[in-house]
Amino acid sequence: MSKSSHPDAADQIAPSILSADFSRLGDEIRAVEKAGADMIHFDVMDGHFVPNLSIGIPVLESVRKITRLPLDAHLMISEPARYVEAFVKAGANSISVHCEVCPDIPAMAKRIHDLGARASIGINPETDADRVLPFAEHLDMILVMSVHPGFGGQEFIPAALDKLRYIRRELKRRELSIDVEIDGGVKLDNIADVKAAGANIFVSGSGIFSKPDYTKIMAEMRELVAHTPVKI
Ligand code: DX5
Ligand code: ZN
Repeated sequence: MSKSSHPDAADQIAPSILSADFSRLGDEIRAVEKAGADMIHFDVMDGHFVPNLSIGIPVLESVRKITRLPLDAHLMISEPARYVEAFVKAGANSISVHCEVCPDIPAMAKRIHDLGARASIGINPETDADRVLPFAEHLDMILVMSVHPGFGGQEFIPAALDKLRYIRRELKRRELSIDVEIDGGVKLDNIADVKAAGANIFVSGSGIFSKPDYTKIMAEMRELVAHTPVKI
């Protein structure tokens, strides 16, 4: 379960394949894997919870066959309970469900754990962190959105930094070292700020896939993250 035996959650870089070239998805994933990615962030949209559609179960199943990296499924969908099992069976290692559509967080976390995956809850920019924090001991990760979900390539919303600090402070006070993932508009120029504010999993889509050299951009990101202490 959630209470990690490690004193600090490890820093990890998670390229979001929403910004990859889908006509060459296998090559793109192999390229970021070779370039040092720690996991693959997989954005699922239903045209209802968010005003966009993206990829789903068959694509995740195919991706599973070509990478050993953990697959981090971010379900931006209105009825997650209907689909979590299919995503885990298709090969997702962690499942993020949004708190805005999750009336019973402990039950959802148990369901995901029983299926054998890591359980995470996502929080939209306009949603209070206190919707999730009371249930943190049931979770492996909290996902903080720093854009309004639905599209890659948006601007980082600075208020996410205060939310990150608040979450990491509360987790620390309760001696929980679960992962805190930041998702949306994370790039080389703000990755140090989100690390300082307490994030330890850094999703980046356009910040990585718009660059010509994935190895270089991820090495630069990792270097900044490694040299930035958490200041909360
Ligand atoms: C937004 C998605 C994000 C997105 C991140 O709805 O959840 O994962 O792909 O892309 P960038 O880093 O370009 O904001
Ligand atoms: Zn995402």
